[in-house]
Amino acid sequence: TGAITLDPGYKNSGSCESAITFLDGEQGILRYRGYSIEELAEKACFLEVAYLIIFGELPKKAELEKFENDIRKHTLVNEEMKSIIDGFPKNAHPMGVLSSLTCALTAFNPGVVNVDNEEKMYEAICKIMGKFLVIATWTYRKAKGYPLNYYDNTKPYVENFLRLMFELPTEPYKINKTVLNAIDKLFILHADHEQNCSTSTVRMVGSSHAGLFASISAGVSALWGPLHGGANQAVLEMLEEIQKDGGDSDKFLAKAKDKNDPFRLMGFGHRVYKNFDPRARIIKKAADEVLAELGVNDPILSIAKSLEEKALKDEYFVSRNLYPNVDFYSGIIYRALGIPTEMFTVMFAIGRLPGWVAQWKEMRVNNEPIGRPRQVYVGEPLRSFVEMDKR
Ligand code: CMC
Repeated sequence: TGAITLDPGYKNSGSCESAITFLDGEQGILRYRGYSIEELAEKACFLEVAYLIIFGELPKKAELEKFENDIRKHTLVNEEMKSIIDGFPKNAHPMGVLSSLTCALTAFNPGVVNVDNEEKMYEAICKIMGKFLVIATWTYRKAKGYPLNYYDNTKPYVENFLRLMFELPTEPYKINKTVLNAIDKLFILHADHEQNCSTSTVRMVGSSHAGLFASISAGVSALWGPLHGGANQAVLEMLEEIQKDGGDSDKFLAKAKDKNDPFRLMGFGHRVYKNFDPRARIIKKAADEVLAELGVNDPILSIAKSLEEKALKDEYFVSRNLYPNVDFYSGIIYRALGIPTEMFTVMFAIGRLPGWVAQWKEMRVNNEPIGRPRQVYVGEPLRSFVEMDKR
């Protein structure tokens, strides 16, 4: 079989060729299909970016309308899914519920498991884009004990997210433009990030032809971890802890630097970005703007800024090229928008969905082989079986 190259964590191994996202970690450049993230966050809307990422080109007006309409055809979720949600305890983490529900969708949509032609693939994509948004918000409604809401086909996608989440039977949800625009921008900034842990998971699971929904469900599970998407929740919890502790972040910086302490500064560092994370820059600026527009004065924002400032001057973080990443400031905006902390990673998942879908599609269209890494065996050599009474 020849010598096997070991590369734990795939730090230097490419797993595929991809035409979706360009990332230059040294220069802090991120582009979807050639368009800079800065420009897309400023000028495009989320579904437009989703279309771009999945199909390769910015949609013409009619193309975008068709895509949105086709998604609308699939925004109903089978009623039996509700009994599955009811089986979860109220305090279940929304990411666990979301991953389970996404996989459960497979049972109610068996036709999308094998997508052997373009038409079926397109249908599977529209289905997941429609249903995922609904079940993602249901994880929150369940935790709150609120009745589950249905998608309103007369309203746009991101506005639906807000209504699905927050509308109550007694209290129609009033859309605030600032909130709507901020969510749109955050979803765009999370939409794809080449071969990160969850995306690689989606491609890996999909490479066995397990189907789109099962692959996305696996992606949700991968995203949940605090070293990946779960960092946004962990950042806010860390900032709250600093606040409770009197606002002094030095103790936390010292803990993060202590090699005998497993604590890490959440929202800091990145496998690929070694100068800055361009998403973090946009989000930091947006946090200032959104909080000002909403008239929110959150002391957590100043704690975050002072923590960042100290870390950026600290030899430990400087020498290791550790900078704030996308998750460092996003939670502060989510909080100002009224999104509860345990839903932060679900927000990331809704934003990342087009990326997962596009990467899965690319993998299938390119007919990539099953993902199957090798290993270097370091266990026992051959030994003889020992009977139970002799052990
Ligand atoms: N706090 C303290 N030390 C850190 C941190 C941190 N946040 N991140 C990295 N280091 C140190 C690490 O201990 C190591 O030090 P040494 O060379 O002395 O052993 C060095 O920096 C290199 O770290 P690494 O673990 O080898 O780097 P990696 O590329 O494997 O990990 C990472 C990248 C993002 C998992 C890591 O930086 C981390 O755990 N950050 C905190 C969690 C976080 O914010 N995750 C979100 C990532 S961005 C969005 C996303 O993916 O969802």
